[in-house]
Amino acid sequence: MFDERTALWAGPGTGSTERWLRSVLGPALDLPLPPGPEDSPQAVRLRVDDTLEPEAYRLAVSATWGVEIRGGDPAGVFWGAQTLRQLLGPEAFRRAPVRPGMRYGIPHQTVEDAPRFRWRGLLLDVARHFMPKDGVLRYLDLMAAHKLNVLHLHLTDDQGWRIEIKRHPKLTETGSWRSRTRLGHRASPLWDERPHGGFYTQDDIREIVAYAAQRHISVVPEIDVPGHSQAAIAAYPELGNTDVIDTTALPVWDTWGINPNVLAPTDTTLRFYEGVFEEVLELFPADAAAFSAFVHIGGDECPKDQWRRSPAAQARIKELGLAGEDELQAWFVGHFDRWLAARGRRLIGWDEILEGGLAPGAAVSSWRGYAGGIAAARAGHDVVMCPEQQVYLDHRQAAGEDEPVPIGYVRTLEDVYRFEPVPPQLTAEEAGHVLGTQANVWTEVLEDHARVDYQTFPRLAAFAEVAWSALPTPAERDFADFERRMTAHYARLDALGVAYRPPGGPKPWQRRPGILGRPIDGAPPNR
Ligand code: ACM
Repeated sequence: MFDERTALWAGPGTGSTERWLRSVLGPALDLPLPPGPEDSPQAVRLRVDDTLEPEAYRLAVSATWGVEIRGGDPAGVFWGAQTLRQLLGPEAFRRAPVRPGMRYGIPHQTVEDAPRFRWRGLLLDVARHFMPKDGVLRYLDLMAAHKLNVLHLHLTDDQGWRIEIKRHPKLTETGSWRSRTRLGHRASPLWDERPHGGFYTQDDIREIVAYAAQRHISVVPEIDVPGHSQAAIAAYPELGNTDVIDTTALPVWDTWGINPNVLAPTDTTLRFYEGVFEEVLELFPADAAAFSAFVHIGGDECPKDQWRRSPAAQARIKELGLAGEDELQAWFVGHFDRWLAARGRRLIGWDEILEGGLAPGAAVSSWRGYAGGIAAARAGHDVVMCPEQQVYLDHRQAAGEDEPVPIGYVRTLEDVYRFEPVPPQLTAEEAGHVLGTQANVWTEVLEDHARVDYQTFPRLAAFAEVAWSALPTPAERDFADFERRMTAHYARLDALGVAYRPPGGPKPWQRRPGILGRPIDGAPPNR
C-alpha cells in the first residue's frame, strides 16, 4: 500500500531514480515519499545489484518487505521504477491527484525483466517542423515511460537549422526559419503562408541532454552533411557550390523532397563544420549516458549533380585520386569519421555512408530497408535497424480517406508489433552488431505536437515492446494479447495527455481533409 508512511530508501547510485519517483509519484498520488529506513515494510528500496545484467531489474512487492527494486546498474533501477509506476495504475501518470485521499496498492509479485536490445531509439525530426524545448522534454518523459533510451535528434535539414552555434550565428539568425511552408506532400498546391521557425539555445540543449541523462536516455545529435543542407547554405552561401549556382539566392527551403543544393567539398566547408562539431561535442558530452559518444552526421540523400558540374568539386576528385562523385562523398564522410574518432567519439550515419567504405568504429542507421544494415553488420560495423518500410512512423497507420495527410505504406499497430529488427540472414556473430532499433518520426506533414502524437502513438508502444522484450518470431507473436494489454495502456496514455490515434480511427479534429498526402500502395518501391 502506498500511503503517507511510504518512504524511499535509495542505495548508492540510485539517486536519479529516487528523485524521479518523488517528483512523479509524489504529485500524482499526493504523497510526500520522504527518505526512510531500509528495513521498514513501508519502504520502497532502490539498489544496484551487479549480479544482474546492465539495464536488467528485479521488482519485488511483498507484505513483509514492501517494495524493492534491484537493478544491474542505475539504468536498471530506473526501468524498474517505470514498471512500478505502471503497476500503480493510470492515475500514477497524471500530474496531480484526481482522487484525493485514494490509496494505491500493488498486488504482491516479483517481476524480473531485461532488455533485448541496448539501443532502443526514437528519432524526432525537429528540423522540418520545430518542436519547442518543452515538447522535447515531454517526449523524453514519454520515452522513459516506454523504456526507450536513445533520442536521435535530427537538428538540421534543408528546411531549418535548430541548434545555436556561437561561432556561426547566422545558422540560426537566417537558417532557423522559413517564410512559408508547403502544406502536405510536395505535389500539394497548398501553402501555409505563416513564417515557421525556432531553435534551441545552447542552454536549451544542455537542459535537454541533462534531462535525458537523468532518465538514462542518450541524446544523439544529427548534423546532416553533405546533403540536406540548404538551411546552412542559405545562412552562409559560401558553403554551397558557388561555381554552379548563385547560392546567395537560396532561401531556407519551403517545400519537401530530395534537394539538389548540397555542400561544396571544399576546405572552407570542412573547417566550417569542424567548428560546428566542436560546439556540438561540448554540448553533447560523451559521458552523459550509454550512447552519448555517438554523433550522427546524416550522409543520406546527397544528389551528385552539382558536384558533377562544379569545377572545384572535380578538381578535388582529381587531387584526391578519387573515382568519382560517390567516392567524393565517402571522402567527405571519412574526414568527419577520423575527426570524431580523434576526439574519442563515434560517427553514425544513414546507410548511404557505407558506399565507399567506412572506418572501423563507425556505425550505420539502416533506413532503406534491411540491406544496408546487413551489409554493415557483415563488414563488422554496428547497426541500428530503422527500416523505412517498417518503422517510419510518419507513414500512415491505416488505409482510408480519414487518415490525416496519408503518406507512405500502411503500417498498422499490428505491423509494428510484428516488426523484427534482426533479419534472419545474419549469423549470430553478425547479429551481435545490431545494437538495436529505432522508430523514426519525420515531420514534413506533422506541423505540431498533436500531429506528432497521432503518428507516434499507439505504435511507439508496440515498437517499445519489440525493442525491449524477447518476443517470438513475427508470425508467432500474440497480437491479441498485446491489444488486450493496450486497453490498460490507452488509459495511461490518456492520463499522460497523449493525442494518439484511437483504435477506431481519427477523431474529427485529428483529420486533415483536403491536404494532399502520398500514399504508397503495395510493395515498397525498389530504391
Ligand atoms: C532518411 O529517411 N532520409 C534517412
